[in-house]
Amino acid sequence: MKRKRQPAEPYRIKSIEPIKLLLRHEREKKIVKANYNLFKLDAADIYIDLLTDSGTGAMSARQWAALMLGDESYAGASSFRNFERTVKELFRKEFVIPCHQGRAAENMLFSVLDTENKYVLNNTHFDTTKGNVQHQYGFPIDLPCEESTSLEALKFKGNMNIKALEEFIEKNGTNEIALVIMTVTNNSVGGLPVSMQNIAETSEICQRRGLLFFLDGARFAENCFFIKRDEKGYGQKSIKEIAQEMFDHCDGVMMSAKKDGLANIGGFIALNDENIYRKLTELMVIIEGFPTYGGLAGRDLEILSVGLEEVLDYDYLDFRIDQVKYFGEKLLAAGMPIVEPTGGHAVFIDAGKILPQIPPEQFPGQTLAVELYKEGGVRSAEIGTLMLGGVDQKTGKPYNAPRELVRLALPRRVYTNSHMDYVAEVAEKIVGSKEKLGGYKITRSSNILRHFTCDLAPVEHAKATAR
Ligand code: F0G
Repeated sequence: MKRKRQPAEPYRIKSIEPIKLLLRHEREKKIVKANYNLFKLDAADIYIDLLTDSGTGAMSARQWAALMLGDESYAGASSFRNFERTVKELFRKEFVIPCHQGRAAENMLFSVLDTENKYVLNNTHFDTTKGNVQHQYGFPIDLPCEESTSLEALKFKGNMNIKALEEFIEKNGTNEIALVIMTVTNNSVGGLPVSMQNIAETSEICQRRGLLFFLDGARFAENCFFIKRDEKGYGQKSIKEIAQEMFDHCDGVMMSAKKDGLANIGGFIALNDENIYRKLTELMVIIEGFPTYGGLAGRDLEILSVGLEEVLDYDYLDFRIDQVKYFGEKLLAAGMPIVEPTGGHAVFIDAGKILPQIPPEQFPGQTLAVELYKEGGVRSAEIGTLMLGGVDQKTGKPYNAPRELVRLALPRRVYTNSHMDYVAEVAEKIVGSKEKLGGYKITRSSNILRHFTCDLAPVEHAKATAR
C-alpha cells in the first residue's frame, strides 16, 4: 500500500547506538528467566524497545551542548534560574518546584494536599498517579468520556466526562474531594488528546465549586498539536500559544519532563498558590533536595530548558504524530486491531479482541507482549488487567481493566520508520498463529503496581507445578 508521508524526520542522525537481535532460542530462555515479566529483561537483550516513551528519547545537539553549561551549585544555581524562567513563561505559574520525575511530583503534591480519605478525580489516572493517591490513603476516581471506549475513530477521546464529573461533585460534596486532575494526553485510554473546550469546562466547574484543578502535563505538547490540528479556532495559533492558553485554565501543573521535556530525567510542579508552594518546599528538602535543584543536576535543568523549547516545534510534532499514525496503519494492515485513532506517543493493540480465547483474568495483553518479544525481540507494555486490575480497596472484590491493551510506545527521535516496518512484520507472524496462544497466571505479586515486579507463568505450566 502506497502512503504519502509528509514530512520526513525533521532531523538527521549524528550519533548512533548499536542494537542486536538475539536468536530465537536465546530470547525464549531470557523470557523464562524474567518470569515472563518484560520489566525484568535486560535492555541489552531487546532489539526494539517500545516499553515506554518516558526518559528514552534522544537529545539534540543543542541539549548536549547545554549540558556543559550546567551550574552544579547547591543553592541558587543559574541553571535553576534558566529553568524557572522557561517554565514560568510557558506554564504561566508563579512558583516552580523541580523534582527528579513525575511520580515525585505526585508524591509531594498529594502529601501536602491532605488527600487522606478524599477523592482525586481525573480523566484517567496514570498508574503511578493512582498509586500515589492510594499511598496517601486517598481514592482515585477515573472519569473518562463515554467516547473513550467507542470503536469509532473520534476526535478528543481523552476528554473528561463532564456530566459524570458534575454528578460526582454533586453527590459527594466538595469537602470529600482533594483535587481534580486532567491528564493530557490521556495515556491510559490510548494517548488520546483532550480538547481545549473540555479543559475550559472542567476548569469552570472547579472554579465555581472552589476545587483545585491541576493538569498532568507529561505530554502537553502532543496534546496541543491535536488541538491545533483538530479543534476549531486553533489552526492559526502556535503550539506555544495553545499551551499557554491551556495552562491558564488550571491552578497548577505536575509534569514528568521525561516525555515532552525531551529529557532522560526530570519533572516539576508549577503553581500559583503560595501556601501550597511553601508546604511543598518544606517537604522537598527532606525528600527531593533543595528547592533550586529538586533531585536534579544543574546539567539536567539546562537540558530541560532547551527541551521544553524544542518540543514546541511544529515540524517535530507533525512528524512525531504522523509516525505514530504510520505505525498504527502498518499494524492494522498486519491484522492487529488497534485503538483508533492513534494518539500522541504510542499505538495500543486490542489484545482482548485478537485473543478472545484468553479471559481477562489470564492477561491476554501479557500473552501478546511476551509473544512480541519471543517472535522479534520487541518489548511492549501490557495495559490491561495485569496493570489496571486488582482488588477493590473498599469492597475487597477483584476487578478487571476496561480493555486488554498492549502499548507500543515510541521513544522520541529514536526509531526510524524502518524499525516500525520491522515490528509490523513481527506482529503479522503472531496474528498467523494467534489461536495457539494461552494465558498467564501471577505466581508472585505485590500489593501496589504489581505489574512492575510480579512473576508470571503460562497457565498450563502453573497448573503443572501446583500438582
Ligand atoms: N503522568 C503520566 C500521564 C505518565 O504517563 C507518567 C509516566 C507519569 C505521570 C509519571 O511520571 O515516570 O516521570 O515518574 N509514564 C511512563 C509511561 C512511565 O511509560 O507511560 P514519571
